[in-house]
Amino acid sequence: MLHPEPRTRRVYDPLLRALHWAIALTILTLIGTSQLAEAFEHGPYENTIWNLHILAGYGLTIALLTRLLWGIVGPASARWRDLWHPSVWKDSLKSLRLPSVHRVGHDPIASLAYLFAYGVMALMVVTGLGLAASEFHTGPLAVWLGNASWLEDVTEDPHEFGFALMLGFIGLHMAALVFHQLRGERVAQSMVTGKQYLDAKPGVQHD
Ligand code: HEM
Repeated sequence: MLHPEPRTRRVYDPLLRALHWAIALTILTLIGTSQLAEAFEHGPYENTIWNLHILAGYGLTIALLTRLLWGIVGPASARWRDLWHPSVWKDSLKSLRLPSVHRVGHDPIASLAYLFAYGVMALMVVTGLGLAASEFHTGPLAVWLGNASWLEDVTEDPHEFGFALMLGFIGLHMAALVFHQLRGERVAQSMVTGKQYLDAKPGVQHD
């Protein structure tokens, strides 16, 4: 089947794209190191692998804080406002249909998943820094909370729960990208080239 030639628009700035890949890379490293450390539990390399996990965690912390700031001072498509579409969410919930209008910038429904993912990342950073302080006496929280015996108790379960939520988001994100690719919509490429490929049909909203 022939798809109409898409029109391209430069939408996502280089810092936003760099942060996207930095976050993806650090999360993959965090998942890999956590699973390796558990596989080598009580072995001679367990501590080294947890230290790598913590280092990758600092990377995620810095990338997330930068993204937070870029969402406030960055260009329109990087702003938090570009991910906030309560009226579209309400309409979709009422009609049980996805919006038919495509907009320049983040997709309104996908934005809900991105906000959820950023929330989970924030949870992982806070609980991870808590675990680093309580179990390894390292990291920015160690000075204040390194000896707090309750810290491990309150951070361990949420950190594990957040891990499961993160895997859920990654599965959903990958499935959505494959879905769009199969429909001939070039969505994944946007985070490489910065260009959004808007189809030639009418109904593209600029806000
Ligand atoms: C998306 C991000 C992250 C994922 C997917 C992740 C994953 C995990 C998993 C699966 C565990 C093992 C939990 C258990 O079975 O008890 C763990 C433990 C841990 N994580 Fe993370 N983590 C993330 C972020 C972070 C961050 C940002 C830090 C700190 C900078 C951190 C530091 C730790 C520490 C110190 C432990 C405990 C190690 C131990 O039990 O000895 N994590 N993480």
